[in-house]
Amino acid sequence: MNYTEKNGIPEAVPVMEPDRQYYYMKKARQYVNARSREMGRPLTFCVNTFGCQMNARDSEKLEGILEEAGYQKSEEDHADIVIYNTCTVRENANLKVYGRLGYLHSLKKKNPHMLIGLCGCMMQEPQVVEKIKKSYRFVDLIFGTHNIFKFAELLVNRLESDSMVIDIWKDTDQIVEDLPTDRKYSFKSGVNIMFGCNNFCSYCIVPYVRGRERSRNPKDILREIEKLTQDGVVEVMLLGQNVNSYGKNLDDPVTFAQLLKEIEKIPGLERIRFMTSHPKDLSDELIEVMAQSDKICHHLHLPLQSGSSRILKEMNRKYTKEDYLTLTEKIRRAVPDISLTTDIIVGFPGETQEDFEETLDVIRKVRFDSAFTFIYSRRTGTPAAAMENQVPQDVVKDRFDRLLKEVQTISAKMTSRFTGTVQEVLAEEINSHKEGLLTGRLGSNILVHFPGTEEEIGKLIKVSLDECRGFYYMGSRVEEERKNP
Ligand code: 5AD
Ligand code: SF4
Repeated sequence: MNYTEKNGIPEAVPVMEPDRQYYYMKKARQYVNARSREMGRPLTFCVNTFGCQMNARDSEKLEGILEEAGYQKSEEDHADIVIYNTCTVRENANLKVYGRLGYLHSLKKKNPHMLIGLCGCMMQEPQVVEKIKKSYRFVDLIFGTHNIFKFAELLVNRLESDSMVIDIWKDTDQIVEDLPTDRKYSFKSGVNIMFGCNNFCSYCIVPYVRGRERSRNPKDILREIEKLTQDGVVEVMLLGQNVNSYGKNLDDPVTFAQLLKEIEKIPGLERIRFMTSHPKDLSDELIEVMAQSDKICHHLHLPLQSGSSRILKEMNRKYTKEDYLTLTEKIRRAVPDISLTTDIIVGFPGETQEDFEETLDVIRKVRFDSAFTFIYSRRTGTPAAAMENQVPQDVVKDRFDRLLKEVQTISAKMTSRFTGTVQEVLAEEINSHKEGLLTGRLGSNILVHFPGTEEEIGKLIKVSLDECRGFYYMGSRVEEERKNP
């Protein structure tokens, strides 16, 4: 399209995305440059992320936009614009944000031009926005999960006005492609394949704050991964709340397994990970594709939540204890070296001692490589929050401690099962404790420390796993096989 331009910026605001946002990024850059000249220094930004990998990926998008707008990255909250990308899955994540706001206020008093932005899942809750409007008047910008792509436009709105800018959407079916991102790692990247969740587990707030399930077009996903690999990425993590239901709502439905087969063909891509998988939707087709693939990591994050069929029904998980055990046995038969990890909630309303013992029983039977354990958190608006038989805190705490001990003991044993083998490790960073060492990850996601140099970061390296120390390995290099001398 042809626009008349002034200072390199079209005079008419483009209607179509992402052109519209690129227009606002240029416009923001003018303000940022002017302010920077006045202050005699570059302006800086800091994005703080709470919660899951989805939020981490969203933050990379926010950072990409801020860089395009002329800000420079800083790791500190003393920056000229500070964004908190929030999580609301458990209450303590909310409390942390309120705690940080007090501190940000004190920083803003010293730097009155500082901008404070809040976004992410917590902002999708009307009572949160009301509270901020009332008690945290110094916040400049509030937006939600559905309109994160509009960040540049909202930032300009704030730069052009003197009051708090708030824009929260209830839901959306829009997916805006091709916005800038600033990747945290040069060699690996998250890739959203779908947004939202349709499962309505009775304890979970995600479907209310992330909206209904929307899958990205396979073409867009493949194009993004192709570009990433051309840019040096060797590992992708495909992200969705329930990747196993990927593609069901597309005009031309595609299964997750079919998508994986296409991604696998991309040259230069070495490793494929994905999360999260819902046990109810995990297909035989996916297990088969995993078993045959050279690139898909032998790791499955398969949230159990509870081992009691009665509680699982109350949670609306749509599988029983037996279904879960059968499924994990089937996966282990097809992919014997699979690493299984999980999420478990303790203290769901009505959980009895017997229900809790069922959870311990599944843990002992499946033998997870690791498990994230959570104390049930009552989320306003979810069906479980209205249930009457909430479990007393001291009982929950007691069960939680028992669970954690059991999980840790099993996890240490499971982790050590690769001792003495030679495996490929993706070198990720310089070891912060000991000079001359690198830290990387196995396909199973286990950490390995081994000798290496900075230039090797981002490479897959054969390492002998000499010694297991709890949840990580100390390794040594093995000579690559020499071709005929
Ligand atoms: N309380 C505790 N844990 C929760 N999760 C989701 N909602 C809650 C809640 N209300 C956990 C689940 C999920 C993980 C991402 O967070 O285990 O798998
Ligand atoms: Fe929450 Fe259940 Fe959806 Fe996971 S599958 S995001 S736990 S509602």
